[in-house]
Amino acid sequence: MKLSKRVSRISVSQTMAVGEAAGKLRDQGVDVVDFGPGEPDFPTPENIKRAAIRAIESNFTKYTPSGGSRDLRKAVAEKHAKDFASRYDVSECLINIGGKHAIFNIIESVVDDGEDVIIPTPYWVSFPDIVRFAGANPIFVPTREDEGFRLTAAMLEKAITPKTRLIIANSPNNPSGAVIDDEEFLRIAGLCKERDIYLLDDECYAHFLYDGRKPFSLGSYPEFKQHVIIAGSLSKTYAMTGWRIGFILAMPEIIQAALKLQSHSTSNPVSIAQKAAVEAVTGPQDSVRQMLEEYSKRRKFVVERLRAIPDVTCAEPGGAFYAYPNISASFKRGIKDSMDFSVKLLEKQHVAVVPGEAFGTNEHVRISYATSMEQLDKGLNRIQAFMTPTRG
Ligand SMILES: Cc1ncc(COP(=O)(O)O)c(C=O)c1O
Repeated sequence: MKLSKRVSRISVSQTMAVGEAAGKLRDQGVDVVDFGPGEPDFPTPENIKRAAIRAIESNFTKYTPSGGSRDLRKAVAEKHAKDFASRYDVSECLINIGGKHAIFNIIESVVDDGEDVIIPTPYWVSFPDIVRFAGANPIFVPTREDEGFRLTAAMLEKAITPKTRLIIANSPNNPSGAVIDDEEFLRIAGLCKERDIYLLDDECYAHFLYDGRKPFSLGSYPEFKQHVIIAGSLSKTYAMTGWRIGFILAMPEIIQAALKLQSHSTSNPVSIAQKAAVEAVTGPQDSVRQMLEEYSKRRKFVVERLRAIPDVTCAEPGGAFYAYPNISASFKRGIKDSMDFSVKLLEKQHVAVVPGEAFGTNEHVRISYATSMEQLDKGLNRIQAFMTPTRG
């Protein structure tokens, strides 16, 4: 069957194979510990759910403007200003159907066929395929595990060519949890300004930072406004993954371009979810603090337990809710790569993890600690048993 060249350039996420196998085992009644999901295990806070119920009851169930209702755009811009002292006007804010949609529309709006987009490795699974779909080339810049996977301007500078149109930065990072140092982030923004390259700042996990570190946004620096494009999401911050609300903060021209695309594809995000989102960003923020506290305890537990397993190394995640241990010591014992590790770990110990190859590195697996301490303990015992060669 003939399909478009555009769609043939992209592939279904490799992460799905292990997820599907885990689902099958669970259906057979097997006690699977699932470290796969990239979403909070907390329910959406009550006040947000109630706002959605009110929206339905008051018949706020029709089309809204394609780029989101004015009150939500205003609320999102004001919340960002409150958190980061940024200055985005309503005309510089667009509401999307999740952060992924925001990123898709940004890339489609600013990148042309044959141009290069720099993506640091490890990367969030969707970046390369969104870039390929736009007809551009993903150029991968590896970060180093022994440097905590932290991205620097010097790493990026070497990869810039006249064809480079966009650099993607995601801090805290999925899958490694790495956080770019504030000074370094400013250097990266300075580099983009100097070379006239756009910088996509994916702030999906911006509110989940550990050790008392303050959330950081390049949106706080007006001198970079021409080059920085912010993609945000309410999915993780408010445990709202299924509601599908994300946003873009950028120059009005970029907002207009993304809006044009949105108006001919998805149109508006769900009206009810928009009302819930207004409550999320304007209402009490205690739930965010509570989730962060809980993730913080789990992070400590997971990292300590992983590091206690012989031959496993694990960089300290500075944010998000993932650990990204190096399991390559198992390659000496007949495991081929991170996919093979994940398949065999599921088969033998019934633990689901995401293979690093989905994120562009092959010696790691991603463990999501957005799950209970009890599950973490059980799963880590099993990983330890899997990694420890049996004697005799
Ligand atoms: C780094 C990163 N960016 C963006 C997203 C998009 O999130 P959503 O589309 O659910 O808002 C995700 C989701 O996993 C992510 O991990």
